Amino acid sequence: MAKTTLHTLLEQKRSGEKFTCLTSYDATHAHLVSTQGTEIILVGDSLGNVVQGRESTVPVTMADMVYHTNCVRRGNTEAMIMSDIPFMACSTPEQTYANATELMQAGAEVIKLEGGAWLCDTVRGLSERGIPTCLHLGLTPQSVSMLGGYKVQGRDEESAARMLEDARLLEEAGANILLLECVPSPLAQEITRNASIPVIGIGAGAETDGQVLVLYDMLGMTHGRKPRFVKDFMAEASTPAEAIATFVKDVKEGRFPAPEHGFSA
Ligand code: KIV
Ligand code: NA
Repeated sequence: MAKTTLHTLLEQKRSGEKFTCLTSYDATHAHLVSTQGTEIILVGDSLGNVVQGRESTVPVTMADMVYHTNCVRRGNTEAMIMSDIPFMACSTPEQTYANATELMQAGAEVIKLEGGAWLCDTVRGLSERGIPTCLHLGLTPQSVSMLGGYKVQGRDEESAARMLEDARLLEEAGANILLLECVPSPLAQEITRNASIPVIGIGAGAETDGQVLVLYDMLGMTHGRKPRFVKDFMAEASTPAEAIATFVKDVKEGRFPAPEHGFSA
């Protein structure tokens, strides 16, 4: 497989070939994920939960994200590396430029930010400066206190309309990718159809252009209650490499996610 770029993802969106994204936080996992056909590695701030054992992603710092992005970069072969801007590290455009610089210099190729249209100026500024962005909409875990828990977003007419508008404005501002988490499948489908940039989903149904999962979840390593969008691909695999290859194949061939992994309107 050739090195994945933004161009690859756009081509795949146009041709209807689904792409995959998995999280990684270290070199070994990055090598494993990138050699099994996964187009994107997400250095997610979910590392706060699965690596650091925290209750939420709120305590994750820029120093953590830079450290793990460096680790992933050393193990990656051909995936595109996307890193999260952590909690309150993108509150002004200037702060975001400085933090995005650190992540890009550590090995990120796309910067992921949680939030809607209020980020348009920041996204425009990053785009003008040559920094690609992915905008995370729907359930944005950094805002868990404001959202009152990890709940499906965009279920009522008003919030669905707002998400559609956020997606449109962010694309117009220069966003390169959208990511929808815990969004009713019909709404995710509508956002994906309207967008000319690639849309990645998690708990957003089968109609988004790409699918993302937390690596530890899909390898069946996460303890406690699992979100409904998670599938344990280790259950029928004999090695982690085989589980990842099956995930990639199942997404490309339309077997994952199944209706039971998504949410209705
Ligand atoms: O941090 C993360 O792993 C994420 C994904 C769940 C999309 O943001
Ligand atoms: Na995240």
